[in-house]
Amino acid sequence: MTGKVAWITGGSQGIGQGCAVELARAGCDIAFCDIGAEAETIRLVEALGRRALFVEGDVSNRESMEAVAQRIMNTYGRLDILVNNAAFGVRKAFLDLEIADVERVWAVALWGVFHCSQIAARLMAKAANGGSIISISSVHAERAFPMSTAYNAAKSGVNAMTLTWASELAQYKIRVNAIEPGWTDTPGERRYFSEELIREEGKKLPLGRLAEPAEIGKAARFLASEDAAYITGTILKVDGGFLLPMTTVRV
Ligand SMILES: NC(=O)c1ccc[n+]([C@@H]2O[C@H](COP(=O)([O-])OP(=O)(O)OC[C@H]3O[C@@H](n4cnc5c(N)ncnc54)[C@H](O)[C@@H]3O)[C@@H](O)[C@H]2O)c1
Repeated sequence: MTGKVAWITGGSQGIGQGCAVELARAGCDIAFCDIGAEAETIRLVEALGRRALFVEGDVSNRESMEAVAQRIMNTYGRLDILVNNAAFGVRKAFLDLEIADVERVWAVALWGVFHCSQIAARLMAKAANGGSIISISSVHAERAFPMSTAYNAAKSGVNAMTLTWASELAQYKIRVNAIEPGWTDTPGERRYFSEELIREEGKKLPLGRLAEPAEIGKAARFLASEDAAYITGTILKVDGGFLLPMTTVRV
């Protein structure tokens, strides 16, 4: 993928950083936006011999994302890949949820994906070089997880948008896919779970552990690559068996 340019939202840590590093490893120059500091993503990408651009920006803000895209075009002159990664959830019982909680989650996890995808798809269609849009969805799109109404609905919405855009954008050779990570060991998860809990709960999963951010990044790298040239409208689980029926008996 040498010479291609990838834009990753929320690329300062966790899965977003994993995607940035794996796409850089495949030869892409990287642009990433985040509401937090750039952390060490620039250093990790540059260590792989690729260029890295950080632009502060909130995916829920359309003007902010238009400005990020403009910076990418001014810096690199092209955009080939978008990874919609930025999201967060509010863990609260349905009976206690405030409207503001739901609006904020949807603004980032649903509208953020809409804004960045539309901005990127318009640039890609105009350049007529094809492209790849990958959204980081979640196993929460498929199963009932309590305390997570707004997040679950947002991820189901991301899957629905993925399928719709895949069918609309195929004529421009823009492929649109999503990844459903299972439980992944990221700074976001570490806010809620201790080292010990992550280790002990991980043992209960079919593959016996949580995913590493790089393992989700590798799936994004595959979907963005020529090896996936005939793949569009796919929701790829990278969940270590998280969604398998829990009747599996270990022998
Ligand atoms: N970690 C998991 O177990 C897991 C499982 C399934 C899906 N996911 C999904 O993977 C993605 C990344 O999750 P993570 O665990 O790496 O999260 P994380 O909290 O560790 O990192 C998220 C990054 O996104 C940034 N961000 C948050 N809101 C933003 C906004 N409005 N604009 C720009 N940047 C913003 C944060 O500053 C942070 O750098 C999310 O879409 C999440 O829903 C995570």
